[in-house]
Amino acid sequence: MTRVPMPKRSAGQDRPAATVAPSILSADFARLAEECKRMVDLGADWLHVDVMDGHFVPNLTIGAPVVASLRKHTDAFLDCHLMVSNPEQWVKDFAKAGADMFTFHLEAAAGPGPDDWHALSPDTANQTVVDMCRGIKAAHMHVGIAIKPSTPPELVAPYVAEGLVDMVLVMTVEPGFGGQSFMPQAVAKAAFLRNKFPDLNIQVDGGLAPNTIDRAAEAGANVIVAGSAVFGAADPAAVMKTLKSSVSAAASSGKPAH
Ligand code: DX5
Ligand code: ZN
Repeated sequence: MTRVPMPKRSAGQDRPAATVAPSILSADFARLAEECKRMVDLGADWLHVDVMDGHFVPNLTIGAPVVASLRKHTDAFLDCHLMVSNPEQWVKDFAKAGADMFTFHLEAAAGPGPDDWHALSPDTANQTVVDMCRGIKAAHMHVGIAIKPSTPPELVAPYVAEGLVDMVLVMTVEPGFGGQSFMPQAVAKAAFLRNKFPDLNIQVDGGLAPNTIDRAAEAGANVIVAGSAVFGAADPAAVMKTLKSSVSAAASSGKPAH
């Protein structure tokens, strides 16, 4: 059974509920459980776990053993973002570790080669990607598909339309590192997805902070990842509140995502 349901859309809103997910990439890894508890106590809805393999992205972080350890200390929704090649290799391990959501990169799932994803079509679902989604679901985790800043959003549409996906993650920096600058041109892709799929959970990740959130909120995002802006703040609760209220205001503004 899945531990926590996904955020839902209520009447008068143009998207599912605003959700804030601090990225533990910016936490002190030596005090991880304590840092996670602090964020949950201060208002975090989810905890965003950045998994990097030094191959899909030029950085190395943590894997399923750390998720398993963390799971013993928190009931929070563990939103795992796998920036790895061959993501299918890790589905079982993350499910066993207690991950709630398994988000893989579309660019990594289409095949073993770095350019295999160029063969993906906006009209037809790729069977390898479909199998990946089904495998995650069968392992009782929510399914997320992430796209890098230069990947067209049309390419995730077939999987969303078939009901295989619980969330799409639109990266607003090149994946690999925390603390980079928000890319406004990338967030526009969220608007394409929001206008097509009002009930879809759309996550944005990278460079989100009180001074960039309004752009992401206008574009229709509802799940906000923030690492450095939250962990680096003197008042993380205030930052998380600002991020959520910007999204909630946009959700009930009546303006189409743009
Ligand atoms: C980047 C990661 C992000 C990162 C966000 O590759 O996926 O989750 O931690 O960090 P900030 O919010 O500092 O850009
Ligand atoms: Zn991330």
